[in-house]
Amino acid sequence: MNYAKFVGWGSYLPSLVVKNRDLVHFVDTTDEWILSRTGIKERRYSHVSTGEMAWLSAEKALASAGMLPSDLDLIILGSTTANDVCPNTASYIKNKLKAGSAAAIDINSACTSWLYGVAMMSDMIKAGSIKTGMVIGSERLSLGLDWNKRESCCLFGDGAGAVVLTRSNEKLGLISSRISCVPDSREFLEIPNWGIQPGIHTNDLHLSMNFDGAAIFKRAVKSMSLDCQAVLNQAGLTIKDIDLFIPHQANIRIINAVGSKLGVDPDKTIVTIDRFGNTSAASIPISLCEALESGIIKGGETILLASFGAGLSCGAAILKWGASTKHVKETHFSIPSYQGEVTELLSDSFSYHGINCS
Ligand code: UT7
Repeated sequence: MNYAKFVGWGSYLPSLVVKNRDLVHFVDTTDEWILSRTGIKERRYSHVSTGEMAWLSAEKALASAGMLPSDLDLIILGSTTANDVCPNTASYIKNKLKAGSAAAIDINSACTSWLYGVAMMSDMIKAGSIKTGMVIGSERLSLGLDWNKRESCCLFGDGAGAVVLTRSNEKLGLISSRISCVPDSREFLEIPNWGIQPGIHTNDLHLSMNFDGAAIFKRAVKSMSLDCQAVLNQAGLTIKDIDLFIPHQANIRIINAVGSKLGVDPDKTIVTIDRFGNTSAASIPISLCEALESGIIKGGETILLASFGAGLSCGAAILKWGASTKHVKETHFSIPSYQGEVTELLSDSFSYHGINCS
């Protein structure tokens, strides 16, 4: 039987750190509100595109696996904020990696895009249609935020994370997975005009996220808990068999609510939302990389992954980690840091939304 083992990982976090107390200069909010309601202390905003962030995390993951770009049969980019829709952004990353004629697909299921991508690629590897591939989650949501909507603009951050999967006969990688989508819940999180709609012919193109936080919160806790239970059952495991829980990082209260519903020991839960906010499709791979880099993953762990996002898409998986916790090689590629201030980086977005920071 084939499995799809995780053999490389890498992440990229933009250099510009924006603390809650920086946001109060242009959003009607407080550090206290954001921290107590979400667990977020700071987030990163990127000066480079989703594709660039994705590319660097991909270079790191490839070096970490000790593989060549030509080893890749498929690159999946999970993102809601792709630089280009046609041609897709995965093909940009593929060309920049020099990955020859590897197939390149963008998938968008919002925050669950990386988990959806990993589930799909694992099944392709198990079925034998490809041998090796890379799944990247990368988001630059800072460009899509409406600074007048304090209920959503404080939540998100930018970043990227990537993993390399390859065929193995060891029982490693995803040993069970479920992807789903909650019925009749599209309107709770939407960005109208972020696609081709009749508005394109009438210049009705104002981008602004519509967000019903409380409605999403309830459905996220319920649907993630159900999907987690389903993948545990599928794998013949109970929550006691789980060594580590890596959930999507949308809100510390959602993470804790799902954890307590399932009976996860809080010490086994990876939390990165305090430093990076909600990086959407990038949040699980960034958290996975952090658990590896900090030595929390020592090899052989059984890891529960869970995610949800606009749609409302949802999903969970059981990931059996192998022995490798060290990079085979390091990449020599990098992205120069941003030297300016947030007001300079986002000046176009601020003026578009009528924000005056002076
Ligand atoms: O990954 C997928 C995307 N992520 C999500 O969908 C997140 C899901 N939802 C949530 O995380 C939470 O629902 C929020 C953090 C968005 C909101 O937390 P909440 O505890 O559900 O607050 P609320 O929406 O019920 O708002 C409570 C109050 C309101 O004021 P009133 O009406 O009670 O006077 C809001 O206007 O908090 C106010 N508020 C804020 N105040 C200061 C909302 N946003 C802010 C803010 N700063 N940034």
